[in-house]
Amino acid sequence: MSSSWGQRIRISIFGGSHTAAIGVNIDGLPAGEAIDWEKILAQMARRAPGQDPTATTRREADEPKVLCGLLEGVTTGAPLCAIIENTNQRSKDYSQLKFLPRPGHADYTAFVKYKGCNDVRGGGHFSGRLTAPLVFAGAVARQLLERRGILAAAHVSSVAGVKDQAFHPEGPAPELMRRLSQTYFPVIDPAAQDAMRGEIERARMARDSVGGTVECALTGMPVGVGNPMFGGVENLIASLVFGIPAVKGIEFGAGFGAAELRGSENNDPMYVDAAGKVQARNNRAGGVLGGISNGMPVIFRVAFKPTPSISQEQDTVDLRTHANGKLTVTGRHDPCIVPRAAAVVEAAACVAALELLAQSGML
Ligand SMILES: Cc1cc2nc3c(=O)[nH]c(=O)nc-3n(C[C@H](O)[C@H](O)[C@H](O)COP(=O)(O)O)c2cc1C
Repeated sequence: MSSSWGQRIRISIFGGSHTAAIGVNIDGLPAGEAIDWEKILAQMARRAPGQDPTATTRREADEPKVLCGLLEGVTTGAPLCAIIENTNQRSKDYSQLKFLPRPGHADYTAFVKYKGCNDVRGGGHFSGRLTAPLVFAGAVARQLLERRGILAAAHVSSVAGVKDQAFHPEGPAPELMRRLSQTYFPVIDPAAQDAMRGEIERARMARDSVGGTVECALTGMPVGVGNPMFGGVENLIASLVFGIPAVKGIEFGAGFGAAELRGSENNDPMYVDAAGKVQARNNRAGGVLGGISNGMPVIFRVAFKPTPSISQEQDTVDLRTHANGKLTVTGRHDPCIVPRAAAVVEAAACVAALELLAQSGML
């Protein structure tokens, strides 16, 4: 297995849901960057389980412990390694999954690929819990970006078809971004959150789950970040975002909707503003042209499937006998992962943006 990403800012995520700890090693950070620990903890808390009826009841403090790379709150330039201890495991919930794979989860594919040696407890290395170290890395990256005028924020843009307002294509206001990026289950319109909660609760009562989408914006990205053909802004963000379990799609700007527009509708008209800056009206490009940032906010949406572990009886196979079987998943699972995943998408955007800046010689 390899769970490493990046060329200049390299992250390597390790551990499993029920191992002693999970963590991340971050290589390539510049020295001399002050890291505000309270801000790190605030981001970790946004993703942590057990704090809301829409999430799993597994409670974890998710307090990271830095092993190296930070001295008196400042990056030393050496690899920054942090661990998060797992303190609330119930491994017996998973004993049957070794041979009765959950439909929709990675149990079957991992069993074949790793010859049955993979750790199935809590989903092992495939668990949503592995997004905690990603949020840690994102919380570090975010502080370097903010110092350079780049902000990231995401909101839950839909759950089970209930939609929040969308970001203004020309970018959300900084106050809105600050509110969203400090909130658990961030939404623009509080009424939408009530309706989403209703859908999640209905699914939970039916021993089912629901999916949804997260919309994320990065503002302040300078023009010229990103490279064609494979090192573009979209490429790097998408490759990190697809590392988040349960992600099934991503679209930038007008995205799939662009396929239904004419060129005259889809092109963003350009103009020079009063300060002499080249701007675009509207932002169907999502801030990216030719893989390179055009100075407009980078806006993208991510689709999450419904949580695979549901407690209804489902058809599966018995990998010992190769016979058809039945499975009823027990254990603690999120009826909807999307409220917690917003912080994870933001973190992925921050790590990708820092890597893009580094690759473009702007860090
Ligand atoms: C924050 C977060 C929490 C998750 N919690 C659960 C969970 O409680 N139960 C579950 O079956 N899957 C959960 N998942 C999703 C699975 O980890 C994921 O569907 C599985 O590893 C298969 O990978 P894939 O969906 O990307 O193909 C979670 C994902 C995230 C991002």
